[in-house]
Amino acid sequence: MSKIDILQASRIPPFLTEGLKARFEVHARDTATPEVLAKIRAIVGGGEARIDQALMDQCPKLEVITICGVGYDGVEVEAAKARGVPVTHTPDVLNDDVADLGLALLLSVARNIPAADHFTRKGEWEKGPFPLTRKLTGSRLGIVGMGRIGQAIAKRAAAFDMDIRYHTRSVRNDVSYTHEPSLTALASWSDFLLVITPGGAATRHLINAEVLRALGPQSYLINVARGSVVDEPALIAALQNGVIAGAGLDVYADEPRVPEALRALPNVVLTPHMASGTAQTRGAMSDLTLANLQAHFDGKPLPTPVPECRP
Ligand code: NAP
Ligand code: 8YV
Repeated sequence: MSKIDILQASRIPPFLTEGLKARFEVHARDTATPEVLAKIRAIVGGGEARIDQALMDQCPKLEVITICGVGYDGVEVEAAKARGVPVTHTPDVLNDDVADLGLALLLSVARNIPAADHFTRKGEWEKGPFPLTRKLTGSRLGIVGMGRIGQAIAKRAAAFDMDIRYHTRSVRNDVSYTHEPSLTALASWSDFLLVITPGGAATRHLINAEVLRALGPQSYLINVARGSVVDEPALIAALQNGVIAGAGLDVYADEPRVPEALRALPNVVLTPHMASGTAQTRGAMSDLTLANLQAHFDGKPLPTPVPECRP
């Protein structure tokens, strides 16, 4: 029997590529002809994959969209739903790794670890001491977004005796941290403001020039959410002009391109959208992606549909 044709819409972990190839006929988006698209029954992509109505239109046999990532802001979910095509993602299995990287960025910007490493390697220490840095333990952490990952970050920050407040649209009854209805007020209060919301239109440029001004010259921004949540030109200007002290960033507006102006700044720590990038977690994400695909083609309930597609 011939294998089911599926479309790979973006880069995916190697574990997933292997698992997919064992069970499906995998076609790369860049080289797929209209004839191939006409046969496609599933689209698979990473959290940043752009899967829009135009692509769905080219795939009339499309039955399911499976994202290897928790964020699915690149998928036009309403267009998929209108076709009766469910969308799945990989929540929870990556909470620990994303939270760990959030804390790693917090510590890196506060203690200036990349510059300290460079300083030590280059023998600068022999000429004098490394400049003093910022204490993290006991400082104020404002978290923008208090979902699965936000809570995992708060749990870790609590171990550093950080004073934690959060901003979301609705107050959570299942956490004890103080809710701050005004994002600007949270920024003013925070020593560190960490962003972990979904991307997409609802959060576009939530962190703008006004929020950065409120954060102030002694405080830091950490973004492990999506590049779209931060007004990147406003952030670069704030970093260049001392409006904020520094930033730790895992995500950018136009990945994998990172503006030269950002790369040139001494007061940033930059990572390449790698928060879930451990072998263990990418393995778990791949397994969950495959489980969703398999369940669909076996006619079983989908393990992790996105909220909009839950029965
Ligand atoms: P989640 O459980 O759905 O939590 C999302 C949180 O964001 C909720 O507390 C939500 O609260 C809040 N939120 C949503 N819209 C908001 C708005 N306009 N203003 C303020 N708060 C808002 O999601 P999660 O599993 O924690 O994942 C969060 C996001 O992290 C993902 O969607 C993805 O973009 C990102 N992520 C990044 C990486 C990486 O590699 N860097 C890895 C994994 C995930 P309300 O609805 O009450 O506002
Ligand atoms: C992945 C992510 O790196 O889960 C998400 O939303 O951004 C990351 O875990 C991304 O999905 C690439 O596959």
